[in-house]
Amino acid sequence: MNDPVIPNSAIDVIYRRGSVRSYTAQKLDPDTIHLLLDAAVRAPTAIHGEPWAFVVIQDTNLIKRLSDGSKKVFMEEARRIHHDHGARAFDTFKDPDFNFFYNAGTLIIICGKSMGLFVAADCWLAAENLMLAACSMNLGTCVIGSAVTGLNSPEVKAELGIPAEYSVIAPIIVGVPDGEVATTSRKEPRILAWK
Ligand SMILES: Cc1cc2nc3c(=O)[nH]c(=O)nc-3n(C[C@H](O)[C@H](O)[C@H](O)COP(=O)(O)O)c2cc1C
Repeated sequence: MNDPVIPNSAIDVIYRRGSVRSYTAQKLDPDTIHLLLDAAVRAPTAIHGEPWAFVVIQDTNLIKRLSDGSKKVFMEEARRIHHDHGARAFDTFKDPDFNFFYNAGTLIIICGKSMGLFVAADCWLAAENLMLAACSMNLGTCVIGSAVTGLNSPEVKAELGIPAEYSVIAPIIVGVPDGEVATTSRKEPRILAWK
């Protein structure tokens, strides 16, 4: 029987996407970035609010500096939440060479305007659109949730030109994968009711 999944169809891309944590040095050009952002804003949005805004960073020194700052904030947070215990799971983060953003050449930060009921939902839907669009173009992505608190500090927001009424919601790295993209397994959907 023929494979019913059409190459690069939505279902194909959904199954091919995997978080990428190793990238080549190849830089993404502005047209590619615009394509990804245009795909992101096609996401559904509550009461057509379109509360998202984007910061694109391709300055690798700045990305490394943001990694160092976010790592520090994350480690402090982890220590506080896990009372030191369990924070050891984050030992690799202590390595000064460990880059939170895996040396990706592009970091796209999705920000949401105010924290209304569905602002985060809208921004995460935009994030998934962006990641699936990237996958369809054979680009890799990874959400870096551990950087959110650090990126939301007033100092970082000011440096990145993020107005006070916006919050960082989804930092996503993008680049050309260095090697095959691995996918991870999922549990079967747990169906609570089907009446
Ligand atoms: C909200 C969120 C935060 C995440 N934060 C990180 C992160 O800080 N660092 C990282 O390497 N991966 C991060 N990930 C990626 C997950 O680890 C990954 O999606 C998960 O292991 C499933 O693997 P897959 O994306 O390859 O299917 C995050 C994913 C989500 C949705």
